[in-house]
Amino acid sequence: MQDTFHRQINYLRIAITDRCNLRCRYCMPATGVPLKGHQDILRLEEIVTLARVAAGLGITRIRLTGGEPLVRKNVVTLVRELAAIPGLEEISLTTNGIFLGTMAFSLKEAGLKRVNISLDTLKKDRYRYITRCGNITSVWQGILAALAAGLTPVKLNVVITRGFNDDEILDFARLAREEPLHIRFIELMPIGTAAASGAGYVPAEEIMGRISRIYPLEPLPDLATSGPAVNFRLDGGRGSVGFITAMSNHFCSRCNRLRLTADGKLRPCLYWDGEIDIKGPLRAGAPEAELAAIFTRAVSLKPAEHCMKNGWRQSRAMSQIGG
Ligand code: 5AD
Ligand code: SF4
Repeated sequence: MQDTFHRQINYLRIAITDRCNLRCRYCMPATGVPLKGHQDILRLEEIVTLARVAAGLGITRIRLTGGEPLVRKNVVTLVRELAAIPGLEEISLTTNGIFLGTMAFSLKEAGLKRVNISLDTLKKDRYRYITRCGNITSVWQGILAALAAGLTPVKLNVVITRGFNDDEILDFARLAREEPLHIRFIELMPIGTAAASGAGYVPAEEIMGRISRIYPLEPLPDLATSGPAVNFRLDGGRGSVGFITAMSNHFCSRCNRLRLTADGKLRPCLYWDGEIDIKGPLRAGAPEAELAAIFTRAVSLKPAEHCMKNGWRQSRAMSQIGG
């Protein structure tokens, strides 16, 4: 599918639940966000149907997100069914990693290719603070299980917030040097509770500067799997680092994605509230050609770029959109 700005759309992010076992401070309030009822959430077979329609339109890669996708029942079965759809070359997952220790091998066996794991700190107390309840030991077990199961390259998503974890930038860089992990530094975006908290983002250029003073950064060619990140190897290290400049530098001109929310809305842009309902028509028995037309319309509505910097605040939390 091509959009109005001649971008090729071949990547679909599917939020398979709006629930999460953590309460990260920049994502959700302590009490969570109002959850949708089970009736409102796409059933697994509905997700598979929509994925099949999307694959027929040229979507080749699907990422499962949430909320926390691994809290959804039967997620392994879902992965198996998605992996069997002709045309889908890659199924991946973004997770907080807490349940990965026990699930990595069955996910791999079901056909999952790789995982991105969210981890904003390497310190146990700080992890508990930022997630309000998480145990970092479980995440480490998850990371090790993902490596052992071959869900590679294993990427760690690190959101840097000034004054909170910017003192750990070099620790993360060292980790990327010593272990076969890809560390993606993400600029904090004004979404969810981060919009209200006023917490500051740290420009990727500043993070890069701090790292390169210690470890020479060797640019890596654009990986097919890297999305909007710019990537580097560190001084011959085992892993690599990447930077997602959501705030400081628009990468919208290279955007290749569409999002499907847990409650069955196609979302043309992360940071734009326009959504198109596809669950309604699906449940009303619309034939696949009609569903395909809804996908095409969503793609045609993709804006040229987001407007995060203008202080415009969108209304849904990250856990409802799928990141
Ligand atoms: N800014 C940047 N990244 C965020 N994430 C959640 N909220 C924000 C925000 N406001 C990240 C999570 C996860 C990914 C899906 O999105 O840390 O790694
Ligand atoms: Fe859950 Fe991810 Fe939001 Fe943290 S950032 S509360 S892990 S959905």
